[in-house]
Formats: sequence, structure tokens, C-alpha cells
Amino acid sequence: MKAEQNELITRIGPGTPCGNLMRHYWQPVALVDEFNPALDPHMAVRPVKAVRILGQDLVLFRNAAGEYGLLDRDCPHRGADLSFGRNEGDGLRCPFHGWKFNVTGQCIETPAEPTQPGPGSPLCSRIKQRSYPLLERSGVLFGWFGPEGSTPPPFPALDCFTAPLTHTFAFKGLWSCNWLQAFEVGIDPAHASYLHRFFNDESLDESYGRQFRGASVGEVGGERWPMTKVMREFDQPEISFEALPYGMQITSLRPMTEALTHVRVTNSIFPHTFVIPLSETMTITQMHVPVDDTHTYWYSIFTSFGAPVDKETMRIQRLNAVTLPDYIPKSGRHNNWGFNPEEQVSRTFLGMGEDDINVHDQWACESMGPIQDRTREHLGTTDKLIMANRRVLLKAIETVQAGGTPPGMADATVALQRIGPDTVDGIAPAADCTAWWRQAVDTKRQGAPWNAALTIPPSSVIDPLAPPVYSPHEEAS
Ligand code: FES
Ligand SMILES: [Fe+2]
Repeated sequence: MKAEQNELITRIGPGTPCGNLMRHYWQPVALVDEFNPALDPHMAVRPVKAVRILGQDLVLFRNAAGEYGLLDRDCPHRGADLSFGRNEGDGLRCPFHGWKFNVTGQCIETPAEPTQPGPGSPLCSRIKQRSYPLLERSGVLFGWFGPEGSTPPPFPALDCFTAPLTHTFAFKGLWSCNWLQAFEVGIDPAHASYLHRFFNDESLDESYGRQFRGASVGEVGGERWPMTKVMREFDQPEISFEALPYGMQITSLRPMTEALTHVRVTNSIFPHTFVIPLSETMTITQMHVPVDDTHTYWYSIFTSFGAPVDKETMRIQRLNAVTLPDYIPKSGRHNNWGFNPEEQVSRTFLGMGEDDINVHDQWACESMGPIQDRTREHLGTTDKLIMANRRVLLKAIETVQAGGTPPGMADATVALQRIGPDTVDGIAPAADCTAWWRQAVDTKRQGAPWNAALTIPPSSVIDPLAPPVYSPHEEAS
């Protein structure tokens, strides 16, 4: 890849071609959990957060009515930082001269102005800080950063947004690298047999909430196999993909015996989300939102098609690896990601721990450097998805530059019809693994206690002119 092309697909600040593309899609901005005083005691007295996204500095706050506001951070008076503002219940007051803004960004007081201090004064009515539409879905606040006054696309009725709060759990983490290399690690099906290889399997009883520790659907000679064993013993997947309006459906086949083939179906949702199986009844939908050119937050929504999610267990497993309130990993370049050479010899392929594979992916994308130099790489046949995705990305950038609507969820007709998508990790009859996995997916959907049927619920349509709608806040237990 040429250096100019690499610049084009990685830089996302305001006014950049790829940044303009990203602003056609709803983006995750914060977890609702970030406002939970049980996790961040400051939130009990002051629910305000500095947020950086797509290279823009913003302030996110919650008023006494429970409504959120997302505003540009520089005060429209003389530019002081509103993330230090006083949250007074009906608005956020700048500590410099006391100007106050409600959740829509409307100025409601300018107290130092002797003739125009109050709400509705000519000065107040003239001042409106830029605010960004917000939606709350499945424990995540999503923002819309398209041109001021433009209409956001409808929110898609993916499983992770359709399932009730009892059946989803959201978490996030910061990676110090460009968004695209984070995403390209996620959609790469070959790495699971190497980067995440464990030399020993654990008991399936210990697998709850842990990626690759659960069993593949199906059996081998009456025995259930942990995904770790399949990945380790069959390490040359036959990878194929189908280009679809929302992205790609990816199929990785690992022939096991004459009679059995392991099949793993995952999805990429353009431009930066993947949907993969976690276990027989859970999926992971993971987004990779650029903070700026060299930092990325991943947001995962775990969705259960079976029992309600055990959020307490899921949260404790993951909180061990990060520091709050900003979900910064404890492992990173500063401590060699916890690398242990003895472990690399005796227990894992990488040597960075057996508990949580997230740090493996973090190493893969951060160790490439802040922005991977793609002029120096050599792609193989297993990288065909990465190449296909880059082609779509370059084309989408061109489409936006020409004034058009880019593909996937930015397109209202695609977003309105998008449901699912389906994932599976299972051991299938080699003769007809496609029919087998489709049947396995139907069975999983039919077993879901919530509406996981393949119909389009009317709630997928939002009125972009209506005020933001918030679902009831989830309390941490
Ligand atoms: S700079 Fe904010 S009120 Fe003056
Ligand atoms: Fe991975």
C-alpha cells in the first residue's frame, strides 16, 4: 500500500476524508456505567465527563432529569474548558464567567452581563453551543457527529440492540493505536489459532464469559470440545467471505475428520464493528471508535440468547484488567504487556496471560506502532478479508468525497433492514456444514427468551427530530 493511501484510511480528525466518512455512522461515546457512582464515586456529586472522539474534545453530562448532553468542550464565551463546569441540575455552568448551557447547548444564563443575565435574553438566545444527538442502547450512549442539521441514519435493530438490558452487558477499553489496525486484528480469522493458543484446555465449567474457553456447538465422538482445542489442533482455516450491504459475513472452515468440519461464522459491520460468537448462547459485538488518530476505544456488547447475563461476573472479570474511570488497561507498552517468557515456552503461544485474551489482541495492534506502516507489510492469502475491507473503505471515502452516502448503516435502507447478524462456532457434518450451521442458528434464536426472531421491529425506526430517548438506567449490583 502506498503511504498516501495509508494516510487516507487512518486519519480521522475533523475535515479529513476518512473522518468525514466516520461521521456518517452512529458512534459509541460512553458506557452508561461511566455515570454509575458505584463504579465512579465522583458521579454521585458531579455527572460530567470529558470525552474525546474522532479527534474532537467534547463534554458529556447528565442533568437532574436524567437527560444527557454532549457539547463541544470550548465555552462559546472565551473558550475555557467546559468539562470543568459546574453541573447545576438544569445545565452546565462554565466556571470562568458563569455562562450556563442546557443539554441542547442552549445558553440559559450569562450572569456577569448587567443588562442581559437571564434566560431568554437576546444575548442568551443568540448563543448555542454545538450539541450532538445522543441515543442510549444496551448500556452504551451513541452520538451522531454528522454535519450540523443533517439527519442521522436510523439505528439498526441488531441483536445486541434488540435484546433487553437483562440479556446484554457492555464494556470498553482503550488501545493506544489507530482505529484501523484495531479493527483489522478483529476481523482476521487466522490469528485465533496462534495469538490466542493455549497449550492446555481448562474445564468447560470455568468458561463463563471467557472467549474461546467455552465449547464449540456439537460433539466429536460424544465428547464436547473447548474452542481452544479446535483452534490449537486445526490451525489452517479455509477462509471465505460474502460481501453484503452491511459488511461481510465471514466463514472459517477447519476440516477435522472425513466426517466433521469445524465452522465459525463471524461478521464485519462497516466501518469498524465485528460480531462473533463468545459461546453457544452468547455473541460479542465489538466496535472500534477512534478517539484520535493514535488511540481507539473498543466497545463490546455481550448479548445472551439464553439466560440473563451474569453482569457481576462479567464486570469483575474485566475490571481486573483496567483502571477506572477511563478504562485504561493495566498492561501495555510500558510494562511489555505483561510478557512472560516462561509462559511462552510452557503455557501459551504468546506469553501474555491465560485469563483474558483481550491483552493478546491489544499487543497485536499496539505493537505495530501508533499508526501501522502499511507500506512495509506483506499480505498472504489468509489476509483476503483485510484487503477486501480496505478496498471497500477506499471506495467509501471516495463516495463521501463525491457527496454520496457511504455503504452499510449510514444508508437508511440498509440500517432499517439490518437485523442479526448470525454467528456460530460449531462442529458440523462435513457433508453439509452450511445447512447445519443455519439450523444451529435457528435453534439458538428460537430458544431466546426475548424477540430474537428474524423480523424487523418497528423500534428500529427513530425520528431524528425527536428529542433523545433514554431507556431506564441500569443500576450496578
Ligand atoms: S469562558 Fe466560559 S463563561 Fe467565559
Ligand atoms: Fe483476537
